[in-house]
Amino acid sequence: MDKSFNYILSPEISEFRRFSPKLKIGVLASGKGTNFQELINLSEKGDLDIDIKVLITNKESAGCIKRAETAKIPHKIIRDKDFSQKELFELEIVNTLIRYEVELVVMAGWMKIVTPFFVDKFKNKMINIHPSLLPAYKGGSAVKDSILNGSKITGCSVHFVEKEVDSGSLIMQAALPIRDDDDIESLTRKIQILEHKILPHSISHAGFLIRSNFMGNY
Ligand code: GAR
Repeated sequence: MDKSFNYILSPEISEFRRFSPKLKIGVLASGKGTNFQELINLSEKGDLDIDIKVLITNKESAGCIKRAETAKIPHKIIRDKDFSQKELFELEIVNTLIRYEVELVVMAGWMKIVTPFFVDKFKNKMINIHPSLLPAYKGGSAVKDSILNGSKITGCSVHFVEKEVDSGSLIMQAALPIRDDDDIESLTRKIQILEHKILPHSISHAGFLIRSNFMGNY
């Protein structure tokens, strides 16, 4: 991991939980998919006991698709513009996740707001990564907003998905300083280094809760 900047992870990193059989996850992504790639890498190395059943993206040009193809992970492009209502779009996603018997849904750069309908279907079984120290800087331009606001510290958060956008109980956060010479690109790069650390560990933790049935059934 890059040590050229200071950071704090909380809770501290511990060993990944072991899952046998492997935890079945579905990944939702709209972009490049660097977080998705990290999950592929850890899974392929046998470090994280996950079985990535499916990648769902809403963008036919998203970089995550190529990563899925290379890793031989099934992928599905589900575009909101092909549906007359948002709930029909989400129903297609929900049905796909159910068809693949996904235990945990991981939003790794999913840039669509989810409706209560979707949240209810995967209550306590859906997590999201966001590039800020929530509850600061919710929404789709968190890195830019933190710079424009003159924040001195920012970071990233993984949380269970609740009906309110970028809310829900926090699983893990990472913090780092914003330097005077940081721009969106440099800060995003540093935040993503930390995201690649906290997302897998959050999956491990959420999977443990799900498998232990701590959070109730569907
Ligand atoms: C990540 O930085 C993630 O925090 C952000 O999208 C990026 C996806 O990067 N998510 C949000 O802004 C959600 N509101 P990736 O495609 O390289 O994993």
